[in-house]
This record gives sequence, C-alpha cells and structure tokens, in this order.
Amino acid sequence: MSSPGPNLPAKTTAGAAEIVRVEAVSKDFGGPKVLEEVTFSLTRGHVHSLIGPNGAGKTTLLNIVSCLYRPSSGRVLIDGRDLATLAPHELAVLGVARTFQNLKICRNMTMLENVLLGAHVGLQGGLWVGIFRPASVVRRDSELGERARRLIAMVGLDVTPETMPDALSYGALKRLELARALMNEPALLLLDEPAAGLNPSEKLEMGRLIGRLAEQRITVVLIEHDMKLVMGVSDHVVVLNYGRRIAEGTPHAVARDPDVIAAYLGTRL
Ligand SMILES: Nc1ncnc2c1ncn2[C@@H]1O[C@H](COP(=O)(O)OP(=O)(O)OP(=O)(O)O)[C@@H](O)[C@H]1O
Ligand SMILES: [Mg+2]
Repeated sequence: MSSPGPNLPAKTTAGAAEIVRVEAVSKDFGGPKVLEEVTFSLTRGHVHSLIGPNGAGKTTLLNIVSCLYRPSSGRVLIDGRDLATLAPHELAVLGVARTFQNLKICRNMTMLENVLLGAHVGLQGGLWVGIFRPASVVRRDSELGERARRLIAMVGLDVTPETMPDALSYGALKRLELARALMNEPALLLLDEPAAGLNPSEKLEMGRLIGRLAEQRITVVLIEHDMKLVMGVSDHVVVLNYGRRIAEGTPHAVARDPDVIAAYLGTRL
C-alpha cells in the first residue's frame, strides 16, 4: 500500500486543510437578496464545483471570493484571513486568480502579452529602466516570458505565442484566459464557466487540464453547467438555487439529492 510523503497529505476531506471558508454570506444589490446565508468550506488541493441553475448566484459568489464585491453580511476567509480586511490588489498576495464568464481578453495584444498581464508584479519597465535596463530586470522579464510561453503550451495552445487573439477560436481564447490566470502561480483558482461554448472534445481536454492543476495542489473552484464535466472532475460540489446553498457533498451524493433534482427539474444531471 502506498502512503503519501510527509508533505503530501492524502486527498481526503476529513482533517484536510481548509483554504476558504464562506460564512453566512448574503448579498443584495439594493433589491432582493441574490445570496442568502451561504456557508461552506473548501479544501486545499481539491476541485470544488459550484453549480446551480441560471441566476442562482454563482458568479456573484465568485465575485465576492475574488474581492470584486463585498458581501452585504457574512464573511469570507482565505487562509484564515477575512477578505473584508484586504484591498482587491492584495488578493494576489493570497494566491487567488480567476477567469471570467465573459472573456476578458485584450484584442490588441498578442497571446503572449495577454498571458503576461497575469504576472503578479508585471514586467518592470518605464523610461529609466528602458534606457538603463539592469541585468536583473532583463533576466526577470525573460523568465516571465519563458513562463508565459510554457503556460500557453501547457493549456494546449499549439500556435505561436505572438498570434493575435482574433485568429483564435472561442475555445482557444478560454484556454488563453486560463494560462493568464496561472501566470501568478495561484494557490486558489476560480474558474467561471471555463468550458462554456466549447465542443465536446475541448470540454474533455479542459476537464483533463483542471485535473492536472489539482495534482499540482492548486485548489480549483469551477462554475460549470455541464454535469458530465462536473461529475468527472470534482472532489466536492456546492449547489446553489435562488441564492441559497441547497446541497453539498461528493458529485454522486449531490446528483442523488432530491432538492438538487427538483432544482434541475427538466435538466438531465
Ligand atoms: N451587479 C449586479 N447588480 C444587480 N443585480 C445583479 C448584479 N450581479 C448579479 N445580479 C443578479 O444576481 C442574481 C444572480 O446572478 P449571478 O450572475 O450570480 O447568477 P449565476 O448563478 O452566475 O447565473 P448564470 O448561470 O446565468 O451565470 C441574478 O438575479 C442577477 O440579475
Ligand atoms: Mg454566472
């Protein structure tokens, strides 16, 4: 029987390290609540899917975990730190990165430049550095460039990194966004529908890619409507409906949950 090394805890929920805690989070935008007392925990190195019908509050919750929105009440802790005490730019320090439901790609920049945007401190530049580029800056720029190229290849983009985004398919742009999110070596990666609009083989590839990220101990939060992908890749699933957490557990447990089946009535799980 193989046992994990001292620094590699087994992939079980019991006793495993908690990376995120969402505590009684509610959110309204001045009208009715779109999230209501949502509570759950996420385990480090696991793939957690956040599912629920359209309008359930999934993106809103992701926006709260990535500090774009503040909760109306409740709190979110990442590594024990309350997000209310952090500015959005400090989130990168906690190792949080995300992709967006609607692509946020700069069309006038190459793939490589788009991925470089994800670097934590960014490329060092400016007039003086441009004139007197110290060796350390040149080295750092080329290291970041190398890393960006490796990530472009890693996400399966088999074209020259200098390609402009307009030459790419929608599926390729989704992967480009993922490469950018990985640039900062995140500990927590939030993916808002990374497989939406992909064809079946691209979805399969996205699932494999997410599995590989989890093997590297990246904690993934995946918002996804494709249940086959969710069932295949998740360690744990949280289900929202009308802003409330109606179920959580293993993919198989939630798929059998009567409240989940009712929420998805008419949709094949
Ligand atoms: N900035 C906002 N201002 C007002 N209402 C908002 C805002 N953002 C989201 N909402 C509302 O909150 C509710 C939840 O929206 P949200 O985008 O979180 O749902 P979702 O679960 O991500 O849905 P989908 O699966 O369609 O992406 C919706 O009723 C939406 O109209
Ligand atoms: Mg959404």
